[in-house]
Parts: sequence; C-alpha cells; structure tokens
Amino acid sequence: MSSTAKDHSGGNSLVRVEGLHKSFGDKQVLKGVDIGFAPHKTTVVLGPSGCGKSVLLKHLVGLLRPDQGEVWFDGERIDTVPEREFTRIRRQFGFLFQMGALFDSLNVKENITFPLHESGVHDRQECTERTMQVLEMVGLEECLDMMPAELSGGQRKRIALARSIVLRPRVILYDEPTTGLDPIRSDVINELILKLQQELEATSIVVTHDLTSAFKVADYMILMLDGHVVMEGVPERFRNPEDPEIARFMQGRASKQELAAIRNSSHRTGVLS
Ligand SMILES: Nc1ncnc2c1ncn2[C@@H]1O[C@H](COP(=O)(O)OP(=O)(O)OP(=O)(O)O)[C@@H](O)[C@H]1O
Ligand SMILES: [Mg+2]
Repeated sequence: MSSTAKDHSGGNSLVRVEGLHKSFGDKQVLKGVDIGFAPHKTTVVLGPSGCGKSVLLKHLVGLLRPDQGEVWFDGERIDTVPEREFTRIRRQFGFLFQMGALFDSLNVKENITFPLHESGVHDRQECTERTMQVLEMVGLEECLDMMPAELSGGQRKRIALARSIVLRPRVILYDEPTTGLDPIRSDVINELILKLQQELEATSIVVTHDLTSAFKVADYMILMLDGHVVMEGVPERFRNPEDPEIARFMQGRASKQELAAIRNSSHRTGVLS
C-alpha cells in the first residue's frame, strides 16, 4: 500500500483514492485525484457541474473502474476486485443517487425491503422491523404503504435515503442530496445527514454544489476543479479563500470568459436586445 495519498485522518482513512484517472473517449474527467475519507466523519466534496464528482463516487462502489490509480476500502484495494465478488463490498456502502430513483411499481415498504431480500434477509418480521426502524429515522413512518407517485420530491429523497441505510452501511454516499428541493426541505435533508451520522456512526461522503448544505454538514471539505483536488481542509478555511479561482466558485460568480460567452451568444440571438 502506498503511503503517499493526502489524508486528513492521519493515514487512517476508511475509504481512499490514490492517483485516480478516468477519461470517457478523449474527455479527461479525473486527472490524478488523491483523497482520504476519515472514518465516522462527514466529508463534503464540492465542485462545479461536470467536474467529476459523481464519477468519483461511482469509483468507490465499483460502478466505474479507474483507467489509472487505486481505490481502497478498510485496508483492501477494491478497484481490482472482480464484479462477481464486489457485492460484499457494495453492501457496506449506502448510496443516495443523484437521481434518487425509487421503483415506481413498488410501494414504500417494498422499495425498502428490496435490498434486504437481495442480501438474503427474508424473515418477514425482521424485514418489517428494519423497515419501520429506517422509516422512523427519516420521519416518514406514515408513508409505509404509499406508492412513490404519491410522495413529494423531498419525501422521495427521504425514502430513498431510508432504503440506502437499511443494510446498516459503514459508508453513506450522498450525491447532490438537496438538488431540486426548496430551502426548507433541503434543511430537513441536512438535519437527516447529521442525525444519521450520529446514530449510525457512519462515514459520510456528500457531493454537492449547495454551499449552505455543505457548511451545515461538513467536518471536512474538498474542492475539485477541472479533474483535480485544488483545496481541502476544515470548513472555516473555505469561507474566505485567498485563491481568486476558488473564491469565485465559493461566491458563485461566473468567470469573465463565461460571461463573455453568454453575452456574445445573447447578442447573436437578440436575447438581451
Ligand atoms: N458513463 C459516462 N460516459 C461518458 N461520459 C461520462 C459518463 N459519466 C460521466 N461522464 C462525463 O464526465 C463528466 C463528469 O461527470 P459527473 O457526472 O461526474 O459530473 P458532476 O461533477 O457530478 O456534475 P453535476 O454537479 O452536474 O452532477 C461529464 O462531462 C460527463 O458528461
Ligand atoms: Mg453529479
């Protein structure tokens, strides 16, 4: 095992990527990413749209494999583990996907028991107890028999979250957990992230460009730009960054080039005239 990866947990990361490179065709997305995720902490990965945040998360659960570099979980190199053996690793991860899809034809209870059945838990009483337990954690016990179409966007996210923790994962991956939610519903999700962190003692990795959410839940922050980690540290370091590019991202300002491109195209289409 190499000991070169940057690591805010004193070399004690539960999950770690080293020198991760990934391209799709001739588009280089990850250009040598080193990150260590400390156990029992919440690490937030920030970065603009398209910088490779979801691609990074997918490498942690073997949904994508690196072109170059390594992925480690609990002292084991996992990027080389064959797909047929990967299930035992994937079971230790809860993944709240960006598109948070529930199975539309299954009710809430069936959605949540699905991973239990998949992992060989069939005892009816145990399934019901564990389903009620996670529904209680997300505060939606009353939705047990409802269909996904009857739920609001925020409720669907919470049910998807309940489903992703029913196997009691050691690591919870949240991909844009608050996107598409109004500020109040976003805050409910933030509170849940904090609560689950405490109750499950999980290691949480939250990918987002919602800075309010990031500052609320993070123990540690990582900023990715253009396929690289450009800054990492405790949240306070991110409040007033010195580097102008990083400050621009944190303050949500478009670059001069981006503004010029929009203005030029608006002139051509007459949008601003
Ligand atoms: N399976 C794939 N095949 C081809 N290109 C892909 C694939 N997955 C991701 N990409 C490309 O990789 C780049 C990074 O994608 P990714 O989804 O990781 O972005 P992101 O940082 O999560 O953005 P967002 O904040 O919008 O979710 C994008 O240009 C995307 O089009
Ligand atoms: Mg994404």
